[in-house]
Amino acid sequence: MPLVPMKQILDEAAKKSYGVPHFNINNMEQAQAIMRGSAEVKSPVIMAASRGALKYSDLIFLKNIMMACVEKYSNIPIAIHLDHGNNFESVKTAISLGFSSVMIDGSLKEDAKTPTNFEENISVTHEVVEYAHKFGVTVEGELGTLGGIEDGVGSGKVQLTDPNQVEEFLERTGVDALAVAIGTSHGVYKFKIKPDPDKNLLAMDVIREIHKRCPKLHMVMHGSSSVPQELIEQINKYGGNIPPTYGVPLWAIKEGIAAGVRKVNVDTDLRLAATAAVRKFLYTNPDKFDPREFLIPARDAMTTIVKERYTAFGSAGHAHDYKAMTLEDAKQFYR
Ligand code: G3H
Ligand code: 13P
Ligand code: ZN
Repeated sequence: MPLVPMKQILDEAAKKSYGVPHFNINNMEQAQAIMRGSAEVKSPVIMAASRGALKYSDLIFLKNIMMACVEKYSNIPIAIHLDHGNNFESVKTAISLGFSSVMIDGSLKEDAKTPTNFEENISVTHEVVEYAHKFGVTVEGELGTLGGIEDGVGSGKVQLTDPNQVEEFLERTGVDALAVAIGTSHGVYKFKIKPDPDKNLLAMDVIREIHKRCPKLHMVMHGSSSVPQELIEQINKYGGNIPPTYGVPLWAIKEGIAAGVRKVNVDTDLRLAATAAVRKFLYTNPDKFDPREFLIPARDAMTTIVKERYTAFGSAGHAHDYKAMTLEDAKQFYR
């Protein structure tokens, strides 16, 4: 199956009420881990590049790694997505590279730190939708702001999504998916205390209310790494120093999916898996120096996480449920 618009992957997920993980990549090993995992458990794929990842790879290297995935895994639906586009230009660049989906994060100004107001958000998001849909490209917007600033994306202040604003935002922008702020944050430092299933960790009532009012909307949960404790322990055992920290547990993500979340963004967990594997390998094999030798366990560790997420979110087993839509089909649809 070729490159597909992300909208198709989310529409199909909505039909069967499952969630699809969005995995960020920066290099070949991450892309391979995502594809190997998806081929094993038969899940559709959403592979994302941030602006930082595109800059790190001079655009062209990452673009070709992602396109190699499309070529090699031709029987799996793959959406290639720009994560946290910060202005019209970043979106144009991604579309010119051949991405099938873009996020415009209009909740923040171009500096990706200062919150915008509702009208500013609508204005930039609408401009992007008008442009992207002409190419059949899916658009994800964002309403509300996440916490956390460690990876350079975020205001550091949580502003939960206001369900009263959602209908107007959807009508005036035409986005295909919407990132909602429900108390998660980017990066490894999400919660200082171990999340308790008997206490409200996230604002699930916000998701439920939005789903009640806009049942067709595909909601997106950012900042959804689970920060597996065994990976933190392994990193620290082999020379790392990560203070105690907890992520979003799988039970909380599953609650979100049951309430209408269709895309779940994961980046940090793959970073942790790779680092834990590399640290262990180099610590226990001080005489080794061939990068392939430590990148193989890193790729395997990431594949394990990928498979676990596909299975937990429910997308495993659904790669072959439908016939691929092309960007040309999506263009006709938007017309
Ligand atoms: O949204 C945040 C993602 O984790 C991307 O992070 O900008 O460090 O690539 P990055
Ligand atoms: P994590 O930092 O929790 O992996 O979140 C990633 C994300 O939201 C990318 O957009
Ligand atoms: Zn994000």
